[in-house]
Amino acid sequence: MAVDLLLGLQWGDEGKGKIVDVLTKDYDIIARFQGGPNAGHTLEFDGIKHVLRTIPSGIFHENSINVIGNGVVIDPVVFVKELEGLHQFGIDYKKKLILSRKAHLILPTHRLLDAASEASKGKAKIGSTLKGIGPTYMDKTGRNGLRIGDLELDDFKERYRALADKHEAMINFYNVDVQYDLEELEKEFFESVATLKELTFIDSEEFLNQSLKNNKTILAEGAQGSLLDIDFGTYPFVTSSNTTAAGACTGLGVAPNKIGEVFGIFKAYTTRVGSGPFPTELFDGDGEKMAKIGNEFGAVTGRPRRCGWLDLVALKYAVQVNGVTQLMMMKADVLSGFKTLKICTAYKYKGETIQHLPYNIEEENVTPVYTEIKGWDKDLTQLDAAGQFPKALNDYIEFLEKELNVPIKIVSVGPDRTQTIHR
Ligand code: GDP
Ligand code: IMO
Ligand code: MG
Repeated sequence: MAVDLLLGLQWGDEGKGKIVDVLTKDYDIIARFQGGPNAGHTLEFDGIKHVLRTIPSGIFHENSINVIGNGVVIDPVVFVKELEGLHQFGIDYKKKLILSRKAHLILPTHRLLDAASEASKGKAKIGSTLKGIGPTYMDKTGRNGLRIGDLELDDFKERYRALADKHEAMINFYNVDVQYDLEELEKEFFESVATLKELTFIDSEEFLNQSLKNNKTILAEGAQGSLLDIDFGTYPFVTSSNTTAAGACTGLGVAPNKIGEVFGIFKAYTTRVGSGPFPTELFDGDGEKMAKIGNEFGAVTGRPRRCGWLDLVALKYAVQVNGVTQLMMMKADVLSGFKTLKICTAYKYKGETIQHLPYNIEEENVTPVYTEIKGWDKDLTQLDAAGQFPKALNDYIEFLEKELNVPIKIVSVGPDRTQTIHR
């Protein structure tokens, strides 16, 4: 069997959690391969809304195994809070949640370093979620990090102390005002570590490859989105991992020839939270309407998300970098009631019209070129088949399919599991 991938194609929050939950019934294993608690994946069913951070979005299904791969960074404190959130729903996570020994640990001082780094940047800050993601991946590539497997070592505490002391010196070096009580943070950290150790730690690359040999089906759940990728995103306003397809190979230990379908997921418009360029961003009533109807507030930080029209230049780039084989368009319901919809099909870049994503998409270099499409009025949230779509929505979908040359297989018309239309 192959590993199918589900990847966000924009700046995150496309609705990955919802779709993974919808698809889980077709898979034996759901695996996260990168990112960490900077992610907030929302699932809604039976009138209840769940937000997952590090735990894969297959956890609510009775028979799925949920794997946290080596490419993920784990904060025991956030993780244990997430586990506690599952208690009330009677989820037996000890049976179906397993962690890679090679996943790196986020220490309390990583979070403090994140805050110090952002404070030192002033206006140029990344707009990080401040969960310690950047500093933890820096320690990973700098070969200083601590991993889940290290929790099984007798001298873990000494290793922890050495790294935390080094971090404290670094925090002082930044010379910014970051208030903290490390003793309190460490107490919480070690208590959480004790709970975490009740879970199963595995050599996940071995487990996943054996599972493939045994004909198990695997869905890899991406976090963030392609435009936040450390290599291909809007650097430096990105996260610190590879959010694109290749990240699934390194973050799980599966070879490229084991990848099957690549599901690319995008909103029918565009949002971004945090700093960085966003060519189709709106500052008018249309943007406000999207934010209001789409309830565009970050699932992790509660920050308002910036909104704008769909950017096909960026979307084409993401489809290409990931090798997307099927598309899923989310939040189509949010566009109901717009008289005219705009789709950015090219950029005016330094006097030229271009159709690819250039090195630098800062505002001063790029002006979006729009194609206008007639909107629709119909409320989509109650629809249950593609045959009920208004003509204008079909025109919108067909325009995108033609431009992107990939079929749109799912259209989402509301946050609930049931508001998902297959085409
Ligand atoms: P993720 O990070 O990609 O999993 O996405 P988030 O959970 O951060 O953000 C997506 C938000 O949109 C959540 O609040 C979802 O409940 C909501 N959502 C998902 N699909 C739809 C949809 O089709 N329509 C509407 N109105 N909301 C949706
Ligand atoms: P999901 O998985 C949206 C953004 C932050 C910031 C930048 C760097 O829910 O789609 P970091 O904390 O990684 O140092 O932040 O990336 N960001 C996200 N935006 N969705 C996410 O995850 C994000 N994870 C990080 O807002 O701009
Ligand atoms: Mg999110």
